[in-house]
Amino acid sequence: MKFLASLVLLACVSTSASAKDPGAELGKQYFDGFGCNRCHIVGGKGGNYGPDLTFIGYRKKKEWLDLWLKDPHAWKANTPMPNFHMSENVREALVAYLVTLKGESYQTARPWNHPDYASDSVKKGAKIFQMAGCIGCHGRNGVGGFPNNNVQGGRIPTLTKTAEGYSKDELKTKIANGVPKPEKADSAGADPMIHMPAWKEVLKDDEIDALADYLISLKPKGAAGDAW
Ligand code: HEC
Ligand code: HEC
Repeated sequence: MKFLASLVLLACVSTSASAKDPGAELGKQYFDGFGCNRCHIVGGKGGNYGPDLTFIGYRKKKEWLDLWLKDPHAWKANTPMPNFHMSENVREALVAYLVTLKGESYQTARPWNHPDYASDSVKKGAKIFQMAGCIGCHGRNGVGGFPNNNVQGGRIPTLTKTAEGYSKDELKTKIANGVPKPEKADSAGADPMIHMPAWKEVLKDDEIDALADYLISLKPKGAAGDAW
C-alpha cells in the first residue's frame, strides 16, 4: 500500500515538472517576492507605473531581459526601474518566467473590449498601446527615447509624427509586420537587441486598426518629454 502511494506520488511530481518549467515557477515567486507587481501589471493585476508585462515574452528577447534585470541603468541611465542587485540564479529564474508571458491571459478576455471603448477607436487604441506594451519601447504617449544598440541615433523612434510620414494603411502594415531586422548603424557591429515585433501574430486586425487610429491622433506636444 505504502509502495503504491509513493508510486502515485512520483507520477504526479514528474508530470507537473514536465508540464511547467520549474525555473519559470520559481521566477514567478521571485516576481511576487520582489514586489515587481507594485509597478507592473501581469494579466490585469498589478500597478501601472511601469509597462504592462502581460506580453513581455513576446516583445523582448531573453538576452535583453537578462541584461535589463542585471542593471537597468546600464541600458537606460535615467530609468526609474530599480536595480535589484539579484544573484545570477535568481535573475535566470525571473527571465525564465518573463519569457513565458506572451499575452495568454488577455487571449480569452481582451481588457480593451470594454463598452467604454466600443465606439471610440482612438481610446481603444490607446488602451492596447498600453496593455500590449508598445509603451515599453515607444514610451508613454509614443514620445520615444528608449535606447537601442547599433541603430541610427541610438533610440527607438518617437511615434508622435508617424501620421505625417505614413498613410493609415501603411501604419497598419508596419504594426502588423514589424521590422524583424533593424538597419544597423555600423554594419560591422552587433545586431540591435531590440526590434519592432510583428503584432499580427498576437493582435487582431480590428486591434491593429484601433492602434493606427490612436497613432494618427498623437500630435507632437511641444518638445518631446520623458516617457517616465
Ligand atoms: C520591443 C520594442 C518595441 C515594441 C514593444 C513596439 N515597437 Fe514599434 N518599433 C520598434 C522599433 C525598434 C522600431 C524601429 C523599426 C526600424 O528599424 O525601422 C519601431 C517602429 C515602429 C513604427 C514605425 C515608426 C517610424 O517612424 O518608422 C510604428 C508605427 C510602430 N513601431 C508602432 C508600434 C505599435 C503600435 C506598437 C504596439 C502594438 C509597437 N510599435 C511596439 C520597437 C518596438
Ligand atoms: C518602482 C517601480 C518598478 C518596480 C518595483 C519594478 N519595475 Fe520594472 N520597470 C519600471 C519602469 C518605470 C519601467 C520602464 C522603464 C523605462 O522606460 O525607463 C520598467 C521596465 C521593465 C521592463 C521592460 C519592459 C518593457 O516593456 O520592455 C521589465 C522586463 C521589467 N521592468 C521587469 C521588472 C521586474 C522583473 C521587476 C521586479 C524584479 C520590476 N520590473 C520591478 C518600474 C518598476
